[in-house]
Amino acid sequence: MNMQLIDFPSFIDERGSLVAIEGIQNIPFEIKRVYYIRDVKQGVRRGFHAHKELCQVLICVNGSCKILLDDGNAKHEFLLDSSNKGLLVGKMVWRQMYDFSPDAVLLVLASEHHEEQDYIRDYEEFLKMKIEGTI
Ligand code: TYD
Repeated sequence: MNMQLIDFPSFIDERGSLVAIEGIQNIPFEIKRVYYIRDVKQGVRRGFHAHKELCQVLICVNGSCKILLDDGNAKHEFLLDSSNKGLLVGKMVWRQMYDFSPDAVLLVLASEHHEEQDYIRDYEEFLKMKIEGTI
């Protein structure tokens, strides 16, 4: 599957903890956009889309949440519960985000600006594109 877990260096001393993230260095693309998701209501599932070209790294910088990735062949579930752990999600991977703790903040680093044309929001269309190898 087009995904990878990334451990970020964490500098911990008596003052606290600092996690360093750099585009091209420990993120395998130039970061063009950053957004974060917070205050997700209990029981809510978000996502339900794939991207044609976009790559993202998801980091739960506070609290925890779960991510389900599906490339049309296999599904993998990840628990993001550490601010120094990132989940790289490549193009053409269907994702769901759920089980957000009340204090969860999910930070997302993206390789492209926000473009609705890059989204595939219909699961059947996603599977069809996978089978046909359109992308
Ligand atoms: P949406 O795609 O529904 O979020 P999720 O991936 O969590 O299911 O996005 C919610 C709204 O935010 C939608 O109106 C589009 C907007 N949005 C932006 O304007 N810029 C962005 O970078 C993103 C990711 C979303």
